[in-house]
Amino acid sequence: MEPDGKTFRGGNAVSRREFVGTVIATGAAATVPPAHAETPQETSQQVSCSLTINGQTHELQLDPRTTILDLLRERLRLTGTKKGCDHGQCGACTVLVNGVRMNSCLSLAVMHDGDRIITIEGLAEGNNLHAVQAAFLEHDGFQCGYCTPGQICSAVAMLDEVKAGAPSFVTENLASNGRIELTDDEIRERMSGNICRCAAYPNIVAAIRAVEQGRPA
Ligand code: FES
Ligand code: FES
Repeated sequence: MEPDGKTFRGGNAVSRREFVGTVIATGAAATVPPAHAETPQETSQQVSCSLTINGQTHELQLDPRTTILDLLRERLRLTGTKKGCDHGQCGACTVLVNGVRMNSCLSLAVMHDGDRIITIEGLAEGNNLHAVQAAFLEHDGFQCGYCTPGQICSAVAMLDEVKAGAPSFVTENLASNGRIELTDDEIRERMSGNICRCAAYPNIVAAIRAVEQGRPA
């Protein structure tokens, strides 16, 4: 670290803000190795599958045991989506499938022939971060960043669920004509499938609350 707050890597100066911006946009900076990096061995029984990932259609021949997570990380090199537990317990691997959040470690890719998948790399539009990405940056909604891609994808879908009037376990007034007040308890309950080992929860809640308050009802 230099006195002006810039970090030098390979001769290039990177400010902290530039660094964390990259984390938010692509999940690229979290370099903790995955708990289980192995993929299924190739077999002769390949299955055809067409997936549109971040707007790009992929015609694939896949071992039917390949999860969406392993397809993304090991085959397509979209490593923003993280592998934490590989057992559906941490939410680090959350992506959007046809607009619905999903643990990609639990779902076989060939089951989603024809589906649309959005990962953390596909949320921004050019240089414009998605509102949830920008809010996480603004509110310091992360520390190491390993859970962050999953947290952000989950929050994007969760906000749509709230807007659609889907109740959660803590929703008190189920007769509110679909208008749900997104209290902090609601945010915590709805994001409970996404674990943060750094316990950045207060800032994650603040970021999501800011997005909800800033968008039209
Ligand atoms: S890696 Fe999928 S839930 Fe943990
Ligand atoms: S920011 Fe480190 S695990 Fe969530």
